[in-house]
Amino acid sequence: MAPASSPALSSGPLFSRKTPSLHGALRVPGDKSISHRALMMGTFGVGRTVIFGLLEGEDILATAGAMRQLGARIEREATPSGDAVWFVEGVGVGALRTPETVLDMGNAGTGVRLVMGMLATHPIRATLTGDASLCKRPMGRVTEPLAQFGAEFQASEGNRLPLTVTGARSPVPLTYRLPVPSAQVKSAILLAALNTPGVTTVIEPIPTRDHTERMFAHFGVPVEIHQTPEGETAVSVTGQTELVGQTLTVPADPSSAAFPLVAALLTPRSHLLLEGVGINAHRTGLIDTLREMGADIRLLNERMDTGEPVADLEVRTSALTGIDVPASRAPSMIDEYPILAVAAACATGTTRMHGLGELRVKESDRLTGMADGLRACGVQVEVEGDTLIVHGTGRPPKGGARVPVMLDHRIGMSFLVLGMVSEEPVSIDEAAPIETSFPGFARLMNGIGANISDSP
Ligand code: S3P
Repeated sequence: MAPASSPALSSGPLFSRKTPSLHGALRVPGDKSISHRALMMGTFGVGRTVIFGLLEGEDILATAGAMRQLGARIEREATPSGDAVWFVEGVGVGALRTPETVLDMGNAGTGVRLVMGMLATHPIRATLTGDASLCKRPMGRVTEPLAQFGAEFQASEGNRLPLTVTGARSPVPLTYRLPVPSAQVKSAILLAALNTPGVTTVIEPIPTRDHTERMFAHFGVPVEIHQTPEGETAVSVTGQTELVGQTLTVPADPSSAAFPLVAALLTPRSHLLLEGVGINAHRTGLIDTLREMGADIRLLNERMDTGEPVADLEVRTSALTGIDVPASRAPSMIDEYPILAVAAACATGTTRMHGLGELRVKESDRLTGMADGLRACGVQVEVEGDTLIVHGTGRPPKGGARVPVMLDHRIGMSFLVLGMVSEEPVSIDEAAPIETSFPGFARLMNGIGANISDSP
């Protein structure tokens, strides 16, 4: 862990310099996907939900704020060991309150889309907004299925935020086949199904993260999952149903662990232990891909916690080789392409990452952002349609650039990792967005040997 004496760093520009090696054991913050869902299901629960390991990043604090507006009582306490425990007194399914003000979801795409699902089948009206990045992201993919329950949406131009939802008074169940593989869309529909009488089914041609389904089971919601004759996955929920408050532990986020993990692979003589990381099979595409590239990553002490598989990840410096990453792997590592592109830039040979269309509608256009930033750091990169091609030379990239983060936490962290292994320092224009998912990232990395500072 970072020593308590590590100085706080500015939320403005940060500079990352060549790192001799990384060593130690650390626990990265709680899983963002699971943390959103824990607060939402706690709100739908009757009685008290107790959450250990909740991510205390800005995205989750925005969801906590929205849940309070919808009627939940949410409190945080510090345990004697200094960890936080969160308590949610839920309102129950069917009992969300009309919020007094606009629900500002900040940068949180998952937060806003899942809250839209909760609202869609409650007879209340609410307006949702977010930061400049969130207001550019497409919401039609959620409003279209949610309207089929009977909800009404008044969105800004191009089906974007700010947007007002009027939930259905008498919701009707539906069967919906996902046109894009998206756990957010699936989860919004499943949350809407909780207050809808009858059976709602989501069909997934390509499976996506199943945290909502697992947490439903933990809260006692009748959820059925089966394969269709066409080989697709069908998830069915029978509403209206009651959720009872539960105790949950949120695993460390594999999407956050990805940054120290790749940093340790690329930095000489490094050895890290990443504790208690979620290894849900719908999230481990990066580990599979890096192992194919030659990475030494071991899964130790595999166990189950609150219905999710968890392990400690042991990582050692490894020589990586470029590979072809198939489009079919995208849903299981959709948030990890920025840091995989950094790994590819340091590998020997070419890495082709296929099927990345969805990267264009994340917190920023990550396909363009990564390609431009890597080129500025002297890496040879091409974008062909939805394929990102990175040519690694097996030698450290030149670095030496200032990269614009564009309100995107993962772009920021990716280029700070690149700076650890480049010939010249790499800087990012703004550290603040990293707080959405990984509070204290630079301090934690410095605690294991990195050299990130706010002065050039
Ligand atoms: C998430 C799903 C993914 C992912 C996002 C979190 C979730 O988005 O990129 O960071 O928690 O359901 P999509 O559903 O848009 O693929």
